[in-house]
Amino acid sequence: MKAAQIHLLRRPKQLSEDVFELVTVNLPPLEDGEVLVRNRFMSVDPYMRRSMDESGADLDPWPIGGPLDGPAVGEVVESRHPGFRPGDIVESMAGWQSHFISDGTRLEPYLSPNTAIIRRVPQGSLGVRDFVGVLGIASQTAYYGLHHAITPPDHGTIVVSSAAGTVGSMVCQFARAAGLRVVASAGSDEKVRWLKEVLHVDAAFNYKREAIGDALARLCPDGIDLVFENASPEHFSACLPLMNYGTTVALAGFVSVYDSGGKVPNIENFEHVLDSFLTIRSFAVTDYAEHYDLFVQRVNALRERGELVFKEQVFHGLAAAPRALCSLFDGSSHGKVLVDLET
Ligand SMILES: NC(=O)c1ccc[n+]([C@@H]2O[C@H](COP(=O)([O-])OP(=O)(O)OC[C@H]3O[C@@H](n4cnc5c(N)ncnc54)[C@H](OP(=O)(O)O)[C@@H]3O)[C@@H](O)[C@H]2O)c1
Repeated sequence: MKAAQIHLLRRPKQLSEDVFELVTVNLPPLEDGEVLVRNRFMSVDPYMRRSMDESGADLDPWPIGGPLDGPAVGEVVESRHPGFRPGDIVESMAGWQSHFISDGTRLEPYLSPNTAIIRRVPQGSLGVRDFVGVLGIASQTAYYGLHHAITPPDHGTIVVSSAAGTVGSMVCQFARAAGLRVVASAGSDEKVRWLKEVLHVDAAFNYKREAIGDALARLCPDGIDLVFENASPEHFSACLPLMNYGTTVALAGFVSVYDSGGKVPNIENFEHVLDSFLTIRSFAVTDYAEHYDLFVQRVNALRERGELVFKEQVFHGLAAAPRALCSLFDGSSHGKVLVDLET
C-alpha cells in the first residue's frame, strides 16, 4: 500500500511552499490491532508555522523528512482492530498524508476528552468535513475563548482582530448573539465588506488602510469593553488606551509573529493595563474540552436557525496543502482553510 505524505525539507526563516515536498512511502501490511485510514479532509492552522521551528513554545517541532501532524478526518478502509470497522469516520492528528496506519491510539481526536466524536457518523446537517471545519479547533477557540476563558460583559463594545478569519468570524457571531456591539478589523476592503454585509458586524475597518488607533477611536466612541485578539501586537497595543476600566483582552494569539520566530516585540501603551486595571487573558483551546458537547449544540442551534455563517476556503489535493498553509500568512485566506484530500 502506498501513501502520499508531505514532508518538511528544512526549517525556514520565512514560510514558503518550497520548504515542503510531496513524497510517496510504502505502508506495511496491517498487523493485528491496527487500522488503515484514508484521510478525507485536513485542517491547516496558524500554529503549524510554530511547529516548523526548532522550538515552537509548547509544540513538538515537526521532523525534517518525516510525516507531519495536524487535524484530519478520515475513513477506516481496513481494520484488524476490534474497535474499528471499515467505513468508520475517525478524527486524528495524522494530517498531511493520504493514508496512515494506526493502532487505535492515534485515532484520538485532537482534544483528547472528545472521545464522543470518534467514529461519530455524520448526522443532521453535519458532514464529515465539519469535524475539522465548523467544529474544528478554530471554532472551538472562538467559543471557549469568549464564553469560558473569560466572562464576557453583557453589553458594550467588543473589538475583534483578524475578524474575517475562522476564530475571528466565529467570535463576531457569538458576540453578536450575546448582545455585544461588534467592531471588526481585517486586512482587505473585501473582507471588511464581507464582515459588514454578510456577518452584519456593527462596524469594521481595514487595518492596512487606516491607523488602527484612529479607526478604533472613530468606531468605539464609548470605549472598548472587550478585545478578542487574534492578530498582532500592534492591534493589541492600539486597543489598550481605549479600553474601559476593568475590562479584558482575550488573547487567542498573534498570528503576525509566527513567521518570525514567535517573539513579541515591546508592547506599546502597556501603562493602560495598569492605569485601567485591565485583565489580559491568554488561553489554550485544549483546556476547555469538557465543554465540547455544549459547543456542538450551540453551533448546531445557530446553524439550524440559519444564523451561522461559516466561510470555508477549500484547497484540493494533498499537494496543495503547503499553499493552503501559506495562505494564512499572506492575507489571501478568508475563513477556515481546509484541504480536501479526495480531489
Ligand atoms: N489559544 C488557542 O488555543 C488557539 C487555538 C486556535 C487558534 N488560535 C489563534 O487564533 C488566531 C486566529 O486563528 P485562525 O485559525 O482563525 O486564523 P486566521 O485568523 O484565519 O489566520 C489567517 C489570517 O490572519 C491574518 N494575518 C496573517 N498574517 C498577519 C499579519 N502579519 N498581521 C496581521 N494579521 C495577519 C490574515 O487576515 P487579514 O487579511 O485580516 O490580516 C489572514 O487571513 C491565531 O492567532 C491563532 O494562533 C489560538
